[in-house]
Amino acid sequence: MGYSKILGTGGYLPARVLTNADLEKMVETSHDWIVERTGIHQRHLCAEHESAGTMGVAAAERAIAASGLDKSEIGMIIVATATPDKAFPSTAVLIQDKLGLHGCAAFDISAACGGFIYAMTIADQFIRTGHTKHVLIIGAEALSRICDWTDRTTCILFADGAGAFVLGPSDEPGLVTSHIHADGSYANLLYCDNAITPKPNSGKQNIVMAGNDVFKVAVNTLSRVAEETLGKAGMTKSQVDWLVPHQANIRIISAVARKLDMPMERVVVTVDKHGNTSSASVPLAFDAAVRDGRIQRGQAVLMEAFGGGFTWGSALVRY
Ligand SMILES: CC(C)(COP(=O)(O)OP(=O)(O)OC[C@H]1O[C@@H](n2cnc3c(N)ncnc32)[C@H](O)[C@@H]1OP(=O)(O)O)[C@@H](O)C(=O)NCCC(=O)NCCS
Repeated sequence: MGYSKILGTGGYLPARVLTNADLEKMVETSHDWIVERTGIHQRHLCAEHESAGTMGVAAAERAIAASGLDKSEIGMIIVATATPDKAFPSTAVLIQDKLGLHGCAAFDISAACGGFIYAMTIADQFIRTGHTKHVLIIGAEALSRICDWTDRTTCILFADGAGAFVLGPSDEPGLVTSHIHADGSYANLLYCDNAITPKPNSGKQNIVMAGNDVFKVAVNTLSRVAEETLGKAGMTKSQVDWLVPHQANIRIISAVARKLDMPMERVVVTVDKHGNTSSASVPLAFDAAVRDGRIQRGQAVLMEAFGGGFTWGSALVRY
């Protein structure tokens, strides 16, 4: 068995920017409170004509261009999203069609903010076994559609965007190791009912979150899974060039970095500008750091994510 590696990355953020000053006009909050508790200064929100699918297409086109492949070489499309365009068909097939691809496997996975690490792990299995050569993985979210814009405890956090990787075969890693987990006993701490929920707990199709509880579990779980990944890879913390964490909250990011002895200079942070874009957050941050020259070919990059489910995961790549 061979390995998979990242051939190209891409990201897309919608044009509309919502600042904390804008939020001050919508709910009882303040720029200072939001920055102190979350590190978020602004976030991007999609326009009416945009969706996880349309943003996913834009990110995918950039990732395919960066990979140097012809799009016809893509053999599988996996989309991680908690905000699919439709109940069915999947957002992956809608993206496939817009990319002008036909016939390759395309499916969505639902693992909330952990979704992109899940997608990468799934893609890796298909590539390593030789089943599929090139897999396009996308994290795409239109979370603004499921935010309760009157709830100051959640609407300040979430945002829209998409990120994508093209993965392909390699004789050497590439993806060194990845680890995905879930614990459904936490399902009621962070969730969103949908139109087919029999007895919606909230009565609304909005994000419902017990922020404090999520915070505590997130820090411990993320540090644990990162240690698990490094242990499996036989690598020490000091050998990691970059940590690309899920961009939920700067306090969670810095607490995990502290536990991993990673100085913040080696942590990619986009939460200040992007907010929490769920499954899109890791690929968006990774792509930003590739494009501005921070992440270089050959460097070791540790990614981690945590979200509703709870689901969580971590992946170590040699880029
Ligand atoms: C949501 C979060 C920022 C709240 O921060 P916190 O420090 O835990 O704040 P608390 O919930 O304890 O609330 C403290 C006070 O601020 C108030 N508050 C909540 N949201 C506020 C806002 N947007 N603006 C101003 N005040 C706010 C609360 O009502 C509370 O007031 P009280 O003390 O009078 O009751 C924080 O819990 C968090 O980030 N959790 C993780 C969430 C997350 O990342 N989820 C996604 C995971 S993928």
